[in-house]
Amino acid sequence: MICMRCSAQAESLAAFTRENRILVTGASSGIGRAIALLCNRLGATTIAGGRSREKLEAAKAESAAPEHFCVEPRDLLEDTENLPLWVKSLREKYGRLSGLAPCAGEASVVPLREYDLATARRCYDINVHVPLLLARGFADRRNNAGAGASILFMASAAATADEPGLCVYGAAKGALLTAMRVLAKELGPQRIRVNALAPGIVRTPMGEAFLHFLDDEAREKELAAYPFGLGEPEDVANMAAFLLSAAAKWITGQVVVMDGGRY
Ligand SMILES: NC(=O)c1ccc[n+]([C@@H]2O[C@H](COP(=O)([O-])OP(=O)(O)OC[C@H]3O[C@@H](n4cnc5c(N)ncnc54)[C@H](OP(=O)(O)O)[C@@H]3O)[C@@H](O)[C@H]2O)c1
Repeated sequence: MICMRCSAQAESLAAFTRENRILVTGASSGIGRAIALLCNRLGATTIAGGRSREKLEAAKAESAAPEHFCVEPRDLLEDTENLPLWVKSLREKYGRLSGLAPCAGEASVVPLREYDLATARRCYDINVHVPLLLARGFADRRNNAGAGASILFMASAAATADEPGLCVYGAAKGALLTAMRVLAKELGPQRIRVNALAPGIVRTPMGEAFLHFLDDEAREKELAAYPFGLGEPEDVANMAAFLLSAAAKWITGQVVVMDGGRY
């Protein structure tokens, strides 16, 4: 039986109104999709970015309030330098934004002998430059809702891992974490909070691709290292919704590692 008082308290941990407009990139798959759906279910207006319109429409069809689930397909690696203007155009279309969760990402798992500039640049573009340019657009006073607005970066436990193959992806996510701490200070006077999540392996197409990269022995070892098993996208979304909501109004400059006890 659900106690109504406890239930109301639980909901108030992360609750939104439709005036809370949250831009989530990577909303067509995995973690970003789970965040977009949860925030929408908790009352926010979700602006969902991704490359595939079809996948975004499928997420919208699954959402609790499809009329408040806005589909905005865009390849973030095209015309990247103009991403702040894209954020402006979204504000003009929907109104000021109260949350930004840039979840679009790509993992490049390559040993040093295969390190090449094009791969590394692409990895840094999608995992560092894209979220920072989106944050720049979001931080423009004309585009955000002011006090209480919140940015949540999606880093990775790979940022502090010393596993072979992570010298590009892990380093990019490490750069994002450093930027997060700096931006928390820079944007504090505007009362914009900036935090990050650093998940271990989560069951998404990217997580499965990482496991596929490992040989059988390394995969077994990796799976055995998670006492609580691998993460589900919803595990990450729960913390994301909390950090994006007013319930986390005293939290900024923090990284939450979510890894089922792995590290
Ligand atoms: N899964 C994990 O184990 C794990 C662990 C730690 C951190 N992370 C981080 O969590 C975030 C989400 O990962 P995920 O596992 O949910 O990945 P995923 O299921 O593979 O989804 C990746 C998302 O990024 C979007 N995307 C990729 N490149 C894009 C581009 N150029 N322009 C626009 N959108 C683009 C994809 O859009 P389309 O589907 O439309 O192509 C998709 O929505 C990433 O930043 C990742 O680094 C993941």
